[in-house]
Amino acid sequence: MTEPARQMPLPTSADVSSLDMPALYARHATDCYDLYGRHSNEQMVRMLKTVGLDVDFCRGEGQYLYDRGGTRYLDLLAGFGVFAIGRNHPTLQTALRSVLDSTLPNLIQMDAPRLAALLAQRLLQHVPYLQKAFFANSGAEAVDAALKFARASTGRVGIVYCDHAFHGVTYGALSVNGDETFRGGFGPFLPGCARIPFNDLAALDRALGGGDVAAFIVEPIQGKGVNVAAADYLQGAAELCRRHGTVLIADEIQTGLGRTGRFLAVEHWNVEPDIVLVSKALSGGYVPVSAVLMRKRIFDKVFDRMDRAMAAVSTFAENNLAMAAGIATLEVIAGEKLVERAASMGQRLLREFSAMSSRYELMHEARGKGLMIAIDFARPQSRALRAEWDLIEKAREGLFGQVITIPLFTEHKILSQVAGPNSHAVKFLPPLIITESDCDWIVKAVEAVLAASHRVPGAAWSLGKTLIANFVRA
Ligand SMILES: Cc1ncc(COP(=O)(O)O)c(C=O)c1O
Repeated sequence: MTEPARQMPLPTSADVSSLDMPALYARHATDCYDLYGRHSNEQMVRMLKTVGLDVDFCRGEGQYLYDRGGTRYLDLLAGFGVFAIGRNHPTLQTALRSVLDSTLPNLIQMDAPRLAALLAQRLLQHVPYLQKAFFANSGAEAVDAALKFARASTGRVGIVYCDHAFHGVTYGALSVNGDETFRGGFGPFLPGCARIPFNDLAALDRALGGGDVAAFIVEPIQGKGVNVAAADYLQGAAELCRRHGTVLIADEIQTGLGRTGRFLAVEHWNVEPDIVLVSKALSGGYVPVSAVLMRKRIFDKVFDRMDRAMAAVSTFAENNLAMAAGIATLEVIAGEKLVERAASMGQRLLREFSAMSSRYELMHEARGKGLMIAIDFARPQSRALRAEWDLIEKAREGLFGQVITIPLFTEHKILSQVAGPNSHAVKFLPPLIITESDCDWIVKAVEAVLAASHRVPGAAWSLGKTLIANFVRA
């Protein structure tokens, strides 16, 4: 039986003619979920409704989001790390308006783009051991570019990556993605890619031993799970890469630009990779942009002759708005001392969360660096709690995390996320501008949600059963 054709409301003349985006945004406050579900991702809308996230956010300022009723939320998701300097930062607005209000020539292509040169210079000042920058439009595009540069500069094919790695979802990036959840159904992938366990130097040594590996790509702190590199891992990896002639690529797309309390996370381990990737925060929350920072000898292998001046290009990569966003973001990070702020706020949160682990048996540990933190949970010992945990986790591994993130949102107005597929960790990735009073808000909320989750029977576990019904059976 064919479904009857659905009547689609036609756009109103106001929709068609209006270029006032905030007005257009406001006009669709009530039908936005319906519109998005109908014309784009229906499963996303189902999920938002299931977990109570369909609150119609209509304003964002700094670290806060506001819904239609004016309720304020603390955003510990930060657009997956994009809003390091907060939302709608006035300095970014000024810089971007200066471009929009000008008649600067953009994307001439046959040109030496001035703002790109300046952003490259400023980024490279942070990595004095690297000499060249190549720009792209997104994190995954930077990853793809880095893999190409590594293959071209070594003349080798092999690429080694880690279990649970997340480097994006274009074909290059997906070929080095360490989680089947993202890869399922999309294969085959790039040839020559080999997965090894994270934090395992012996496995890396074995993988590089054949002398045919172009690159080892690694996140200093894995975004999925917030798995932190062991004390000797990155130094050891750098040494092995040097010995085997393999390019070491540090993916700092999430960890870079102050997130972990250092400008780059690799600085915690005194490591100097051959290629460093940055993106997300560099956008200032406005214009997608990424940069591949690398050694001159790698860059020069690709751009090795005048007729290869365009051997690697991307039409929009060096556009004025993206470059301006990057330049202004670096100004804000330095001017507001956000690297230092991430370090001190992160230290406080980690200390307070760690103290909770002795009081709450569901909590395994708190880990992370700076403002990239996970609270990890594990199967409890006591019988009543264990029975509830087993019920939920047998229905779907990792579902327990929602028992924490949903009340954090609905009762405490904190937006957070589960740290990855099948993960038992809840992840906090706040804007780097959060204050002491925001930390008070977070600590109180986490304490309250943890306490509630240890009451059996209790609202937390009733929620768990509702989730089983909604998520698993649906
Ligand atoms: C470490 C890391 N690398 C790469 C990417 C991919 O970035 P994008 O989504 O902009 O392609 C991400 C995105 O979350 C990331 O966290």
